[in-house]
Amino acid sequence: MADLRAEYLGISLKNPLIAGASSLTSNMGSIKKLEDEGVGALVISSLFEETIQLQSYKMEQDMSYFDNLDAEISNIFPDIEHAGPEEHLMWVRKAVEAVDIPVIASLNCIDTATWVEWAQKLEETGVQGLELNFFAVPVDPAESAQENEQYQIDTVAAIMDKVKIPVSVKLSPFYTSPLNVVRRFDEAGVAGFVIFNRLWHPEIDVDSEKMSFPFHLSSPEDLGLPIRYVGMLAGTVKGSLCATNGVHAGADAVRAILAGADVVQAVSTFYRNGVQNAKKMLSDVESWMDRKGYSSLDDFRGKLCYTNTKEKWTFKRAQYVRHLLNSEQYIKRSSAL
Ligand SMILES: Cc1cc2nc3c(=O)[nH]c(=O)nc-3n(C[C@H](O)[C@H](O)[C@H](O)COP(=O)(O)O)c2cc1C
Repeated sequence: MADLRAEYLGISLKNPLIAGASSLTSNMGSIKKLEDEGVGALVISSLFEETIQLQSYKMEQDMSYFDNLDAEISNIFPDIEHAGPEEHLMWVRKAVEAVDIPVIASLNCIDTATWVEWAQKLEETGVQGLELNFFAVPVDPAESAQENEQYQIDTVAAIMDKVKIPVSVKLSPFYTSPLNVVRRFDEAGVAGFVIFNRLWHPEIDVDSEKMSFPFHLSSPEDLGLPIRYVGMLAGTVKGSLCATNGVHAGADAVRAILAGADVVQAVSTFYRNGVQNAKKMLSDVESWMDRKGYSSLDDFRGKLCYTNTKEKWTFKRAQYVRHLLNSEQYIKRSSAL
């Protein structure tokens, strides 16, 4: 029988399927169910700087302070006035005690001092790792990419100086040179990379003529982007690689591991197909390994990463060119004309 054990951030996991940060991991019923359905670890929903600052800022005051932050906050904490940072710490502590699988905390702040202070507080809850959710939309045109990246790298260094648990970074795909940014984080000693965060975009409701924040889940097609970058990073960094965004089935986890991922994180599939899909995903990975004659994840991890694949062009521009050249055949296959 296939051995699904995985190693992530130096933590041993019984399998490579991690339930990613979401409202499913901020609820006792669903974390217990996720554990029962077999996930290897949990990432608790992020503690956001807004939640921390709400102690001193009232929501209705100067919301422009938060303009460059993500919309997750408005979806995850609709009753934000009741979800203070101390309650979050209490929740994380409870979650750590309630399950036997590793629990990772997640943090998304603005000021370096706040990042460091709350990273330390989260460490004290007993979590085994800390994921830094670096999703922020740079809205100041005067701020260069280099300044933005350096801020992130300096922040991580300041956090790692103060905490002992492994620290991972959950990155957005919107860097000019993601591989370079990952390399610099890696040189700074980051223990792992979550590739990539799913960005929430505002929508416009044409009836009310207002902004709206729909509940957008990923689809399996989204996995192409993480696969491309995990594939190019595999074997080039010391930190662990976690693929996320579009992992919906066991086959998606296999794809990510073939590209070089150590583990995967999933969220949307649990909302769409129920938490019980975790068990099916894991048994599908196991059956696939048995069918292929692989006894451990190491037997096939990175088999199709950039360094190992013979089809290196698939990671590059040539794939795009090839698709354009073959577009006639797609038109024929579709009902476009
Ligand atoms: C309802 C919901 C809440 C989320 N909350 C968080 C969060 O608190 N912190 C975070 O880093 N990501 C959060 N995410 C993003 C997920 O952790 C994950 O990165 C993303 O959904 C991509 O994975 P998926 O394709 O399996 O959904 C959230 C996603 C959803 C759908």
